Amino acid sequence: MNKNMDLLNLILDRRSCKEYQPEPLDRPTLAAIVEAGRYAPSGMNRQMNHFYVITDNAILSSISRLVSEKLPGFEGRDCRYAAPALVVVANRKDNPMALQDASCAMENMMLAACAVGVASRWINQPFALSDDPDLRALIGVKDEERVCASLALGRPVGPLYPGRTERTGNLVTWVSGQ
Ligand SMILES: Cc1cc2nc3c(=O)[nH]c(=O)nc-3n(C[C@H](O)[C@H](O)[C@H](O)COP(=O)(O)O)c2cc1C
Repeated sequence: MNKNMDLLNLILDRRSCKEYQPEPLDRPTLAAIVEAGRYAPSGMNRQMNHFYVITDNAILSSISRLVSEKLPGFEGRDCRYAAPALVVVANRKDNPMALQDASCAMENMMLAACAVGVASRWINQPFALSDDPDLRALIGVKDEERVCASLALGRPVGPLYPGRTERTGNLVTWVSGQ
């Protein structure tokens, strides 16, 4: 199989993970994943994503605790599924394409993670708490930035590729002229 087919299969086989091994990821592995995020396209090539890579257990636990305390429905739950790493993607408040830019980086990182044997899951709650001063202080988000997305990362407890699932949504219409 040529490399292009490998990439297409990786895209179709990637799955989000909810159960992670507690062992930390080594820094080169994390750095390779984040580098893929840095190489994502951005509107007008502004490259304004800011990747906060969090591996400190105390900070990770504090983020989970804040979410539990402040977001309804998360009482007693760990929004990051105890993953040993979380990459928070922030972008400039004055960038009208901040969310799009962050989303491109997120997908790049999810795919890169698969490629190096790491499982991941988009965690939306830090975005929901983007204006929360406690969350911002915990991560060190700059005043001019907003939190756009975050990605839990770690080695999966189960298989990295648990099986391709049929997509039943996401319509496709081939538009033809008359
Ligand atoms: C924008 C976005 C936000 C998401 N937020 C969360 C989240 O907060 N918590 C969670 O467990 N999964 C979250 N997910 C993961 C989705 O639930 C997951 O991608 C979806 O169920 C499809 O599964 P798959 O990624 O294995 O194909 C999010 C995914 C996206 C793209």
